[in-house]
This record gives sequence, structure tokens and C-alpha cells, in this order.
Amino acid sequence: MGDWKSKYKDLIDFYKTKNIAVLMGGLSSEREVSIRSGENVYNALVNLGFKVTKMDVDANIARKLVKDNVDVAVIMLHGKYGEDGIIQGVLELLGIPYTGCNVLTSAIGMNKIVTKELLKASGIPTSPYVKLDPSNPDKSFEDIMSLGLPVVLKPVEEGSSVGVEIIKDEDQLRGKLRSYLRRYPNSFAEKAVLGTEITIGIIGKNDNVTVLPIMELRPRKEFYDYEAKYTKGMTDFVIPAEITKEQEEKVIDYTKKAFKVLGCRGVVRFDAIVSKDDGIPYFLEVNTIPGMTETSDIPAMAKAAGMQFEEVVLKILEYVEW
Ligand SMILES: Nc1ncnc2c1ncn2[C@@H]1O[C@H](COP(=O)(O)OP(=O)(O)O)[C@@H](O)[C@H]1O
Ligand SMILES: [Mg+2]
Repeated sequence: MGDWKSKYKDLIDFYKTKNIAVLMGGLSSEREVSIRSGENVYNALVNLGFKVTKMDVDANIARKLVKDNVDVAVIMLHGKYGEDGIIQGVLELLGIPYTGCNVLTSAIGMNKIVTKELLKASGIPTSPYVKLDPSNPDKSFEDIMSLGLPVVLKPVEEGSSVGVEIIKDEDQLRGKLRSYLRRYPNSFAEKAVLGTEITIGIIGKNDNVTVLPIMELRPRKEFYDYEAKYTKGMTDFVIPAEITKEQEEKVIDYTKKAFKVLGCRGVVRFDAIVSKDDGIPYFLEVNTIPGMTETSDIPAMAKAAGMQFEEVVLKILEYVEW
């Protein structure tokens, strides 16, 4: 082990004695992405020489974990039941250590409004928003109009751009709002930020963190929607992001602060847009279990930092609380 792996020798030796399960698939709208993330991480763990099994997650997961004598769970689930504290709660109950954020941070991170309020309270810029009321579309319409167009409609608890829609004019809003509220009763409208879309990877715990090179996303489509996220060639990734040194420093500062305020652990990703109007980086959200597919952001950012995918996977293991 004369290469980069030598600095992880103790960690590798420790995990060689463990039964590792990669929890993937699951029951959310991001199931397919989760399977791709899970397969990638599973292969890396196998290449590292670990004893590892794949587990699709459903209501029988507790039984499966116990039956297979799982020592540690690598959670590669995105969205509901996986990224929101539910599976973390099950693992706490079973006494099985797991990767990533704890129950509370996961639950906070899943809820974009709670996240925004916490960021705002810590002085981290985030775009103004209004919560929508599905029982009162007229009131929601008025609230959005007083926020000012363009806005972005978003479900409070989704991911992968599921349900995200940009609304530019009043007619479009009138035409869409009712059906949107039926489809996504728990949603909000956020003032659109026009500028440079970036994503920031951060790894660690408390103050002991590493921020990966910031990545800029240039979707060929209007915004970074589901298709742009998971289809090769639909988005240009630019590392490092083309923002000023000053903006970069601010972004790094805010990211570290946000990581700490939210109580994150392990490998986490924040999304933000640096406004072309005022140069401020507005934080959109946190991804407590960021995608690990071959087109995902974290692997690309890590690569720019000189880290292979396997090293990222070891970092994920490094911050597990035993
Ligand atoms: N306020 C906003 N202004 C402009 N674009 C936005 C805004 N909010 C979201 N978007 C676009 O929608 C995408 C998805 O939104 P995001 O809040 O990151 O949710 P998620 O990735 O969990 O679906 C962003 O990557 C961005 O392209
Ligand atoms: Mg996002």
C-alpha cells in the first residue's frame, strides 16, 4: 500500500473486519438515482477489499439488517425514508452505526423551508420565499405576486429537481398554480436568483472540514432539472467555478458555517446561486446524501481535488460514529 491508500491504513484495517451493507434503492422518487449511487459505492467498497452486501430498502429492512448481521450501514438512499432521518432512526434503534448525518440533521436537510430558516438565522443568504397554501390557491397566487416574478416553485421535501418549476409571468402562474398545488400540496415559491449556479462539496465533522473545489453547473436546458442532472452531456460542469476570488471566499465561509449550524457529518453538498445582480451567493439547499453516480457532482469535485472515487468512499466511512 505505497500509494494514497497508506494514509487510510488504520481505517481500512478497521473496516476489513466489518460486515458492511450498502442501503440503496428505497421507496422515494429518487429510487433509480439511488440504485446508481449504491452500485458505484458498492463497487468501490469491493475494490477496497471489504466484505459488503447490497440491500434494497423497504419495510422489511430492519429484519434484513439483523438477519445478515450487518455491522455498519452505508446509506446511499436519496429522498424520503433515506435522506430524511427515517432510516437513520431505524439504524439507531438497532444499534447499527451508519454513514452521514444523524436523525435530526437529516430531517432538517430534507425540509427546504426549515433549512432556509436555519441558514437565514445564521446570516447565510438564502432567497426570500412564501409557503403555498393548497387549500387557498387565490391567496397563494397573491403571495407569489407580492414576492415578485420570476419565482421557482418547489416541493418542500423532494430532491433531484422533482417538481421544480420556473414561473416567469402572471399568465403562466395562473395557468399552473392550481394543478401544481394539487400535485405538490407541501410546496413553496422562492424568488428566482439569476446568476452562476454552483454546488459545494464539504467533508468532515464540526470544524474539521475540507471544502472541495467549487463546481459550476451550466445546464444546456433552462435550469438544472432532473434530465439535466442525470443525462450525460446535458450539463457542462466547470471546475473551479467562474466566480471571483472574493465570492469564492464568501461561499467557502458560508458553507463551513452552514455545515456546522445544521450539524452535518461526512460528505455533504450545498447548492447555491451567485446572483449576477448583487454578487451574493444565495444558498438553495443542503444534500445530506449527495448523489454518487458517474455523472454526479461529488465524484467530479473530488477528482478535481485529486481524490479518486475510492478515497471519497473511505471519507464517507471515516466519519461514521461508533
Ligand atoms: N431560487 C432559484 N432561482 C433559480 N433557480 C433555482 C432556484 N431554486 C432552484 N433553482 C433551480 O432548480 C434546481 C433544483 O433546486 P434545488 O433547490 O437545488 O432542489 P433539489 O436539487 O433538491 O431538487 C437548482 O439546481 C436550480 O437549477
Ligand atoms: Mg439541488
